[in-house]
Amino acid sequence: MEYGCYKKMYFSPLITSVELLTSLENEFQITDYDLINVTYPKSGTSWMIEILTLILSGGDTHLSRTVPNWKRMPWVETFEGYWKVQKNECDNPRTFSSHLPIHLFPKSFFKSKAKVIYTVRHPKDVLVSFYYFSRMAIYFKDPESFEQFLQDFFKGELLYGSWFDHVLGWTAMKDQVDLFIMTYEELIKDLRGSVVRICDFLGRKLDEAAINSVVENTTFKSMKDNSMANYSLSLKGTLDQKKSPFMRKGISGDWKNHFTVEQSERFDLVFKEKMKDLCVKFSWED
Ligand code: A3P
Repeated sequence: MEYGCYKKMYFSPLITSVELLTSLENEFQITDYDLINVTYPKSGTSWMIEILTLILSGGDTHLSRTVPNWKRMPWVETFEGYWKVQKNECDNPRTFSSHLPIHLFPKSFFKSKAKVIYTVRHPKDVLVSFYYFSRMAIYFKDPESFEQFLQDFFKGELLYGSWFDHVLGWTAMKDQVDLFIMTYEELIKDLRGSVVRICDFLGRKLDEAAINSVVENTTFKSMKDNSMANYSLSLKGTLDQKKSPFMRKGISGDWKNHFTVEQSERFDLVFKEKMKDLCVKFSWED
């Protein structure tokens, strides 16, 4: 299966099209009540869906236990998600997800008061997670080898394009739009503290019991056991979880089990060069 390419972003024709991406960019109306979960793939998208679902329900697990996550916060750039999100225009907040780089985001966003939570993950762990995911998802190209995948990552020749451009582009918007930057590593280190900070950003006051429920229902184990969060119900044949489970390891630092010393050093050089204009400091750099 060949990827399409639109303005430097690779996409699968099984998921979206140039027509849809063009219409999303130019015609789609972002509302002031939108709450958007934005990530580069494999950075904690599903984790954030679960956290937001539970915060918005005040810790009530009904939705998170009965409706699959991709229906709760669909990806707006997909055939299915676009219409679903558009239809829900009156929801407050209207919640959805996106992996789009900033330069393809709907133009209406930049004039709106919509809230975005942008989750970033250490790129070496993103790469490892993406490598396994590409082997199990039919709409992704099967990687030839880890080394080849690494080179494609450097060139941005993966679905959704360059991690470097994605992170640079979104973080550069931090003072221009209502953007909350979260890292996967902060979620790992202090899930409760992270949930409280997200509640503050959303202006939601949750009592102790509600926060406990959010935390308990968004641990790796709890999500792995929840068929509405672990993609075991995803369309037959799209994800082959026998090759690799979606909820794979859920840790930070797994890259150390996959990169050679030489690959890691090469990555550091590319990172230094490509990210020299980065305007935020991530927790993993401390
Ligand atoms: P791994 O492949 O490293 O295990 P996304 O949702 O953006 O596709 O990201 C998927 C990654 O997030 C996977 O990483 C998955 O295991 C991890 N993940 C999802 N929920 C998690 C949780 N509650 N705790 C820790 N990691 C989680």
